[in-house]
Amino acid sequence: MDPTSRPTAANGTALAAGRSFGVVRRLAFIAMALTFGLSVLVSIYLGNTVHETLIRKNHNFASLLAVNLNSQIFRRFALPTRLIFGRVLLSNPEQYRGLDQVIQSIIQDLQVENLRIYAEDHTIVYSINAGEPGDTSTASPSVDRAAKSMWPIFDIEETLPYHLAFFKVSLPKNTCRLRTTYLMRAPSSYASDDEPVPVMGILEFSQDITPDMESAVHFQQLTLVVTLLGSGTLMVLLLFLMRRAEHAIALRTAEEQRLLSELHQSEKLAGMGRVVASIAHEIRNPLGIISSSAQFLLDHSKEENTGTNKILQAIYDEAKRLTRTVGDFLDYARPKLPKQDVVRVETVLDQALSFLMPELNARAISVARAGEDKTGFKVRGDKDLLYRALYNIISNAAQAMVRGGRLTITLEKLAADAQGRQAIILSFQDSGPGFPKENIDKLLDPFFTTKDDGTGLGLPIVNSIMTSHGGSLELFNASEGGAVARLILPGIRDPE
Ligand SMILES: Nc1ncnc2c1ncn2[C@@H]1O[C@H](COP(=O)(O)OP(=O)(O)OP(=O)(O)O)[C@@H](O)[C@H]1O
Ligand SMILES: [Mg+2]
Repeated sequence: MDPTSRPTAANGTALAAGRSFGVVRRLAFIAMALTFGLSVLVSIYLGNTVHETLIRKNHNFASLLAVNLNSQIFRRFALPTRLIFGRVLLSNPEQYRGLDQVIQSIIQDLQVENLRIYAEDHTIVYSINAGEPGDTSTASPSVDRAAKSMWPIFDIEETLPYHLAFFKVSLPKNTCRLRTTYLMRAPSSYASDDEPVPVMGILEFSQDITPDMESAVHFQQLTLVVTLLGSGTLMVLLLFLMRRAEHAIALRTAEEQRLLSELHQSEKLAGMGRVVASIAHEIRNPLGIISSSAQFLLDHSKEENTGTNKILQAIYDEAKRLTRTVGDFLDYARPKLPKQDVVRVETVLDQALSFLMPELNARAISVARAGEDKTGFKVRGDKDLLYRALYNIISNAAQAMVRGGRLTITLEKLAADAQGRQAIILSFQDSGPGFPKENIDKLLDPFFTTKDDGTGLGLPIVNSIMTSHGGSLELFNASEGGAVARLILPGIRDPE
């Protein structure tokens, strides 16, 4: 099988996931931008609606005031003046005072400014501001328009346009004024066939509607702040969710790739295992013959230390080493199914230690054991395989401590889980140089070795034995130095 074909598939899956998430992310950003834009539009629309409603309210009020002034001036001033003086003539100070009294009584509590009455030739005949009567120059174009209209004419005078007022917290007085111009007439009952309704003059007055404009501006500011906060919160939430989704996808992709690479590894090994099994079959027997023949010749050699003997010894050693390598490789490539016996870990440990004791002694390595108790550390498994695992770990530790040292072996039980299962932890800590830091992630790769005569299969075999027992292998360097190999195995529930 081509080992490169699967990683490409894995990358393809990751790429597809990344691409589809990219689309989701783009859509999310577009949705966020739309929500944001829409929020601004909604706030502008609401603010403008409020502004227009307030202006309409002011129009209604000004209309009522104009009509009221019209009727009161007619009833309380024009009629009595006609009766007393025969005709209305505001140049007469007494008449002027009479009109002023009527007007002041109506507008006294209202915010009305610049109230004027124009004659039909646009001369000011009355004003609440002294000095204006008689002026002919100040009539606005609205006076002309009002003279031809049945309805009041409204003009808004702003010192600051509404859209700029939006950026102010408070507005000065008279920022926005409403000017109303209205043609005052006698009631229609005074009209006759040959004479139309008499015109009393053109009324004009202004009101400061800045407080209303301010309310509209504040409302619009509030709506904008609330909608922006709302969409901002939504954006933050969306970003947070996207980050989490990205993280989850990254984790899943990494996991997928890990599983795929494990799958390739085991496929590769299964393939290699088949090949090696047949090669091993072919190689093992001749190797056995070579080593036993070399042994035989060495045993029957009369002289020692001759050149021939040295060659025979080398043949014997190399044949043995090759036999071990082939055996290790076979064990790793075609792991045996473990037996399911009840095994005491301490017993297996004793056996491995006693076998390796001569080597440990020769290297001046002391062994300390801790954590053992009377109840024992029982696991279900294969004692030969477990022996093999412990042997590899201890012999690695021995080989690492070239100038002597100390090997500490600790047995621990992890508290039982909900199903009453305990885990048994067996730690080996040596006082050697520790695992090579730059290669710590390669320790479980088959054939990774830093030793001249190593196969690099020891730790992969330990790992495979642990996995087949439902356990695991952890390798790390202790903070105080030295390598730690930790074997974790599922314990047996008592009273098994
Ligand atoms: N206790 C240890 N201290 C330091 N390094 C270690 C230790 N145990 C293993 N290693 C490192 O891990 C590598 C791989 O170990 P592994 O047991 O798989 O193979 P090996 O010991 O090199 O060969 P073999 O087991 O066939 O003799 C070693 O070559 C060594 O570099
Ligand atoms: Mg080893």
